[in-house]
Amino acid sequence: MRKTVLSAIVAVSENQVIGVDNDLPWRLSNDLKWFKKTTMGKPIIMGRKTFESLPGPLPGRTSIVITRDPGFTAEGAIVTHSLESAFEIGNEIAEQMKTDEVVVIGGAEIFRLCLDQLDRIYLTRVHATIDGDTFFPEFDPEKWHEISKEFHSKSEKDMFDHSFIVLERKQAH
Ligand SMILES: NC(=O)c1ccc[n+]([C@@H]2O[C@H](COP(=O)([O-])OP(=O)(O)OC[C@H]3O[C@@H](n4cnc5c(N)ncnc54)[C@H](OP(=O)(O)O)[C@@H]3O)[C@@H](O)[C@H]2O)c1
Repeated sequence: MRKTVLSAIVAVSENQVIGVDNDLPWRLSNDLKWFKKTTMGKPIIMGRKTFESLPGPLPGRTSIVITRDPGFTAEGAIVTHSLESAFEIGNEIAEQMKTDEVVVIGGAEIFRLCLDQLDRIYLTRVHATIDGDTFFPEFDPEKWHEISKEFHSKSEKDMFDHSFIVLERKQAH
């Protein structure tokens, strides 16, 4: 079977913050467009809290939600109870959607669980120091190649300067 690329997409402040009060700590319209473009047509894996922070399942993508709660249901999403089963389901859906990529969209607990297995990270660096309660896990930059980096200035719809960075893992694992 074709190998599926396992990616994560995240927006992170200079001090590693990704969230506050189960929401994003900023408004960055440009990043939402980048998120949409990068995830469209792909299966996306997320923790239950991130799912609940969204207005609902994201159109054009298949949402896979991880929870320990055996009674949890989410209309329009697939619910599962471990990272491994989320990957299995993600691979099957990727094949059905004719894509070679499964994208983990957060939050911190799920990023922490999957970091060692990721092939690619779409990292939006938000050029600001933010007060938050949820952080991206420490990772070793030596293990990653920077494939691309694109700077964007703050604007009326974007609270902070930010850079879209694509990282790929250096060696096969
Ligand atoms: N900046 C960004 O790019 C970005 C991206 C995504 C999210 N966020 C932010 O991050 C925050 C949410 O992140 P979070 O870390 O609090 O929560 P999360 O990772 O979205 O979800 C955590 C939940 O996932 C389930 N879970 C975790 N580990 C599990 C395991 N091993 N097996 C089964 N289920 C497991 C549990 O659900 P149950 O409690 O139901 O069992 C747990 O409460 C929000 O502020 C959100 O806005 C930011």
